[in-house]
Amino acid sequence: MKIASTQADNQHTAVNKTIVHVVGARPNYMKIAPLMEALRAVAGLRQVLVNTGQHYDEAMAKSFIRELRLPVPDRDLEVGSASHGTQTANIMIRFEAVCEQERPDMIVVVGDVNSTMAAALVGAKLLIPVAHVEAGLRSFDRTMPEEINRIVTDRVADILLTPSEDANENLRREGTPEKRIHLVGNVMIDTLRRHLPAATLERVRDRVAVNERQYAVLTLHRPSNVDRVETFRGILEAVNVVAKDMPVVFPVHPRTRHRIAEMGLSDAVRPLMLTDPLGYIDFLSLTSHARVILTDSGGLQEESTALGVPCLTLRENTERPITVTSGTNRVVGADPAKIVAGYRAALDDRGPVRIPALWDGRASERITAVLESALRG
Ligand code: UD1
Repeated sequence: MKIASTQADNQHTAVNKTIVHVVGARPNYMKIAPLMEALRAVAGLRQVLVNTGQHYDEAMAKSFIRELRLPVPDRDLEVGSASHGTQTANIMIRFEAVCEQERPDMIVVVGDVNSTMAAALVGAKLLIPVAHVEAGLRSFDRTMPEEINRIVTDRVADILLTPSEDANENLRREGTPEKRIHLVGNVMIDTLRRHLPAATLERVRDRVAVNERQYAVLTLHRPSNVDRVETFRGILEAVNVVAKDMPVVFPVHPRTRHRIAEMGLSDAVRPLMLTDPLGYIDFLSLTSHARVILTDSGGLQEESTALGVPCLTLRENTERPITVTSGTNRVVGADPAKIVAGYRAALDDRGPVRIPALWDGRASERITAVLESALRG
């Protein structure tokens, strides 16, 4: 098993190269922030930040860029919301023009959103090396748009930076040459560890009055959960059972807010504590002190494992199985009875949590070592 070193070689000479980093949607910012910071140590490296604008609201994008101390993006592609085909195509058209002007020596993409796949395809066609952070994750569920994005991105990327050994195995099984795969750990946990000391319940008390370990946090935004009224209603029935025991704080994603209004589900969410989407540190304040988390997010499954907080994943599968085998996660699906049973079992969780190897806050250093070595050729 190859684990990337934290030591970059040849630090004495400047690299004189350009890296273009691509962000676009909420789960991207916390993955790029620690990496851009770590790469500042590489002499002679010019870093360009491109924001596709897949997400654009203050609460979904701009507050993250500020709070995570990302530089102001050098380019804003302002693609906005659209169907998958239109959004992906718009990102490709506009990102290709950026690449022609900036002439990067490498493109870094993160995660599995449409911006990730679109930018990776552009890079591959222009013969610019593409590095994919969070490579190799697979849910084996092609009805999930992110699964298509993961598969395509990993097929065309040159440098595959994986968070855990299961991701390496997925890539090997697909025939990826070993020399492209680098096990670097989970870069999102670098960000989590950096900001955890500031994540107190005090900072959110003006909007959400809850007590330490006496509340649940709910997030829902997957089309598979919120786009069909029967499924969404069933999940809310189960969540309302939890709400009889303890307050359930529910920061509502814009897609979900639209669906609640369209489907007439306002009564079903009335027992819950609804908030607007929260900034990174405010949300970490809530999750890190919660009794239990219920979610269909990918990243939150990992964050709850790193925090040692029980997590119920309201999906039929996960691309992050290590959070189940090693961490605090239970995949319970969308069936109300299973959600309630999972919740009761989670309350009895006692055992110590094993934080997966290399989720140690130093993934960005290991990625820097891999990228620097690739840039030096
Ligand atoms: C996208 C990602 C998903 C990620 C999620 C995190 C893809 C395929 N999906 O899904 O992997 O987990 O982001 O949030 O890339 N909207 C706003 N303001 C915004 C952004 C979106 O109001 O800033 C609304 C729009 O009505 C839009 C809807 O939310 O149509 C959904 O947004 P979209 O980016 O299409 O997908 P997400 O569900 O956010």
